[in-house]
Amino acid sequence: MMLTRKIVFFSILVFLALVSAKEESDADKKCDQKDGSCKKITKSTEVCDEDGDEPCFFDDLEEDEKEESSTPVILRAGDLKSRVDIDDEYPLYEKLTRLQNAKVGEVIEKKVDGKKYKLHTRSLKPLLFEIPNAISEDEIMHIKEKAVFSTEGLFESIARGGLTPEDSFKPSNKKGRGLGPAAMFENWDLNGDKIIDMNEVKLFCKGYNFLYFDEDDVLKMFKKLEISEFDDGKITEKEFETLDTMGIENYSNVVMREHPKHRQRTSEQIWLPMAEEYDAVLGRLRDRFGKIFEIPKRILHGSEHMQIVRYTPGGHYHAHHDTETHKATSKPCCHHTNTATIKQHAQCRLCRFMTIMFYLEKPEEGGETAFPAADNVTYSEPEFRRHGYDGYNLNEHCHDANLVVKPQKGTAVAWYNHHVDPSTGWMGDIDEWSLHGGCQVRKGEKWIANLWLTAPYSKDADKMSMYSAEFLRMMQERGEF
Ligand code: OGA
Ligand code: FE2
Repeated sequence: MMLTRKIVFFSILVFLALVSAKEESDADKKCDQKDGSCKKITKSTEVCDEDGDEPCFFDDLEEDEKEESSTPVILRAGDLKSRVDIDDEYPLYEKLTRLQNAKVGEVIEKKVDGKKYKLHTRSLKPLLFEIPNAISEDEIMHIKEKAVFSTEGLFESIARGGLTPEDSFKPSNKKGRGLGPAAMFENWDLNGDKIIDMNEVKLFCKGYNFLYFDEDDVLKMFKKLEISEFDDGKITEKEFETLDTMGIENYSNVVMREHPKHRQRTSEQIWLPMAEEYDAVLGRLRDRFGKIFEIPKRILHGSEHMQIVRYTPGGHYHAHHDTETHKATSKPCCHHTNTATIKQHAQCRLCRFMTIMFYLEKPEEGGETAFPAADNVTYSEPEFRRHGYDGYNLNEHCHDANLVVKPQKGTAVAWYNHHVDPSTGWMGDIDEWSLHGGCQVRKGEKWIANLWLTAPYSKDADKMSMYSAEFLRMMQERGEF
């Protein structure tokens, strides 16, 4: 019996490894084309050079890098067997499901691995649960240590609105007056005093592309664009006549385009792979929540690495969705592609069925998680961005949100970003009401861990996730099968 199981298990692994090898070689080619920017990373604690919410992969190592950096994963004898055993006790879930609930306040009890978890329903749109004691002190310590002491440490998430040093932005050749909104003095001079000041530049950037620029970002923009009219901190009507508004629009568009998700975020982060073979603690944590939410194992294990985020005072994440629309049918899900594709703007879409977010550390003040649209009768983007009010700006409107969750160490907040397609049992429409963000930390540090469960739309239900592919490749490299 055990032997049969093993044979089946190994056959599947070999098959998947072959598929994986093909996908990887495709990825290689694209990576070379790109500019050699497929950043190489260490193996046991994988981190991306990327800074945002895009999925993070183990990128391929250059041949000559392989030798020296192939050490950190320690596979103990019996690890593979224990994986087989874990396979045996993980329940069989065929498709996606959403837990049933009746009303806000209702508590669902789930017993997993001998321990009871209480899921407190906090909203229905999105369907959202707060789960106290979801993660133990030991697990938290383990994650934080791993994040801090990993080879690379935590990365700054691109967030402040300014371009990062490695950003490729160059002043546009097409300098001069554009025909867009930036060319109209009235669009800048909001108080009508015939002078554009720092605050008005910030407001223009926000109004034009929802960029939350601080003063440094504004100065950086003018410097990059080699604009001197603002050298004395203001632009007069006369100076405005020669202002490079085309350059400003171009700059703003580049910032918006290249970092559409992250412009509005201030935090540091790192990605930790969760497979049992890399990290038994994380592997168990992942399986536990897979069972709580009845996620098919293949979907669970094909999901992204865990994202660990640290906010210090001033850190925040304005309102956003963790996933992208179901309507962009021409684009593959990012987790079905490869790093090179992900790095090309808008070539893929994030397909995150669920977010399970753990609070690893609560700040002394601030840092709430806000769901501005939760259980609203209607939700529409224009309403949230109506003139003079920007509901996405959680620095100003955190407590206007319909649901505000206060961080508690060890608690998880879990919600569905999508519905299930009732006719196929796979990914359905996005739940726009899942809009959320992290309010400003005012004192102390806030740490969270994001477990994003990626899932396929029905036409891709059999496609292998990039994460499964990379895992199998790693195992293969280590001669485990
Ligand atoms: C995120 C996020 C909320 C928070 O990381 O995607 O929405 O409370 N975080 O930090
Ligand atoms: Fe989020």
